[in-house]
Amino acid sequence: MSTLAVVGTQWGDEGKGKITDYLAENAEYVVRYQGGANAGHTVEIGKEVIALHLLPSGILRPNVINVIGNGVVLDLEALMKEVDMVRSTGRSVDGLRISDRANLVMRYHKLMDGMEERLRGAKGVGTTGRGIGPCYSDKIARNGIRMCDLLDRQALEERLDLLYPIKEKMLASMGVEGLPGKHELLDQLVEYGEIFGPYVCDTSVLINDAIRSGKRVMFEGAQGTMLDIDHGTYPYVTSSSCVTGGICTGAGVGPSSIQEIIGVVKAYTTRVGAGPFPTELRDSIGEQLLVKGGEYGATTGRARRCGWLDLVIVNYAVRLNSISSLAVTKLDVLNGMGPPKVAVAYDIDGERVKDFPASLNRLARARPIYEELEGWEDWAEGQAGDIASKGRGALPKGMRKYLDFISIQTGVPVSIIGIGRERHETIDLRSEASRS
Ligand code: IMP
Repeated sequence: MSTLAVVGTQWGDEGKGKITDYLAENAEYVVRYQGGANAGHTVEIGKEVIALHLLPSGILRPNVINVIGNGVVLDLEALMKEVDMVRSTGRSVDGLRISDRANLVMRYHKLMDGMEERLRGAKGVGTTGRGIGPCYSDKIARNGIRMCDLLDRQALEERLDLLYPIKEKMLASMGVEGLPGKHELLDQLVEYGEIFGPYVCDTSVLINDAIRSGKRVMFEGAQGTMLDIDHGTYPYVTSSSCVTGGICTGAGVGPSSIQEIIGVVKAYTTRVGAGPFPTELRDSIGEQLLVKGGEYGATTGRARRCGWLDLVIVNYAVRLNSISSLAVTKLDVLNGMGPPKVAVAYDIDGERVKDFPASLNRLARARPIYEELEGWEDWAEGQAGDIASKGRGALPKGMRKYLDFISIQTGVPVSIIGIGRERHETIDLRSEASRS
């Protein structure tokens, strides 16, 4: 397949960073199409642990073109830091391309994000504070500043003349301080325009040309299906289209351009921030998942809420994204934990429900209907790579049954199995199948 999409099936943090980094080995183009610096993809390469927020994960591989598409909201301050961090590891960012249509996260968006969260008080969304919601709101309200504006000082000045007084008044009326002066903002934006200008182009043309000439293009999703603005647990969601539909608008390609779609499923469920989570475990098992899985946010460092695998949501994601196969990650975290449970439906007011409900009140009454599966033993520290090199057959019996159960319940094959943090602790059944 020359085009491939990787999307999260849960509330983000499914281990997409590891899977996209792994798949980027065979990609010539890696494209981010939504979200912004709220995303956190952690990649481990030997002793290196690299957290990416805005840069596509192909940036860690040589000779890959890494595209930040028009659907991303771009925080240039954050991008600058990340580019410096990647360069400090001895890697180049020459393959970076930035859409001329990407909307920019401004300082005032971050101030407004913080202010809105404070005003929502106990009912806050638990945002990452990266200005994502206010920036997407401005984009939709036609009050955004785009990357192409930075390359034209006069156009930028006109845009700021219009928008700055509005933002200044809004923030002042709410008593929010910290907004830089208009000229300071302008100078900083012009400087960023000079730094990043050489990387800016019409990325839709770039990607479509690449696809037409048979190049291998990977679309890298950020966050996950349950955080999607339309399909997630609204309003406890992010502000972008995390589902594969977002690829079309966020990268500027048509639907038939997406051939293979891999949904990433963590072997259990986590979420950060507020909102419904039917299989959440507020007990010692949840605590064990948190500690063993190292479930702390890559962007904010917050502890993630943990629970059993919920196939109601994975099935929902399979439907919404047209997922062709699943990458199941972090199975090793369940090693030696005893029999794992998996939710296959919810009981809501005595009714067995398999389609994820929209209403938060109904969700609050949802009791997971679990199936308990066979547990499996732990393996000795450092053995994952050796086991992975031997293939699926070398996995413990309970783990294989767990994978079969997921596949049967979702009607989708498992194509990639993650049993450790590192690149080589991965079993790729697509290559096993092509070898046999
Ligand atoms: P925002 O995207 O910062 O507006 O945050 C909205 C919600 O999405 C909050 O619950 C965040 O914790 C969550 N969120 C945003 N990005 C990520 C991510 O990359 N992984 C997991 N949760 C995220």
